Amino acid sequence: MDKRTFFKTGLLGIGGMLLAKKANALEYYPRSADWAILYSTWCGSSRDAAVWISEGMNGLANLFDVREIPDLSMYANIIVGGSIRSGKVSKELQYYLNKNKEMLKGKVRGHFAVCGNMMQPPTSKQTNELINNHIALLTETKDVPSRVFLGRVTFGLLDEESAKMLKGFNMPEYDNLKREECMAFGKEIFNSFKESV
Ligand SMILES: Cc1cc2nc3c(=O)[nH]c(=O)nc-3n(C[C@H](O)[C@H](O)[C@H](O)COP(=O)(O)O)c2cc1C
Repeated sequence: MDKRTFFKTGLLGIGGMLLAKKANALEYYPRSADWAILYSTWCGSSRDAAVWISEGMNGLANLFDVREIPDLSMYANIIVGGSIRSGKVSKELQYYLNKNKEMLKGKVRGHFAVCGNMMQPPTSKQTNELINNHIALLTETKDVPSRVFLGRVTFGLLDEESAKMLKGFNMPEYDNLKREECMAFGKEIFNSFKESV
């Protein structure tokens, strides 16, 4: 190969890499996958939960913030979850799930919620309120693995009104989200799905 061809081939290669990277810009893991985790968050707890759930699945799932309004139609398996304020997930997630009912039909493999729960361990009450009577109704999916995780509060990330509200309840900053719990949930979903196919 002469010098000219070498440079030409090199430039074409770099161009190809740039194009490929652009197409994968919203995918956190550099591999093709048929699993997606759709999450909603205000300050990041549910984003981190989603990363760790995928880590429990050996990085199999790509992660999508609902604020990006992702097109998930090419995914066969979707896990849906979000953080809780005033007993509900964000308006954006509620809207997305409502708008995409047809696309999601038969694809939802798991649900999760991330909440404060006054820093108390979640019980079946929270599973009923946040998953069975809320997120599962939005996805129109029953009987898939589900989990309520305790989340965290960082005052510096909150808007003024929310920070004032929490301080009014004498709530301190806290961090109760556990990587190993999220990873265990990812493993559970992955194994339950493997067994059912
Ligand atoms: C304004 C506000 C309202 C909240 N409302 C609830 C609630 O109704 N129930 C609950 O268990 N936790 C509630 N929390 C706690 C959050 O769910 C928890 O901090 C979560 O980790 C935040 O997720 P994020 O980091 O993804 O925004 C609230 C927190 C804030 C700041």
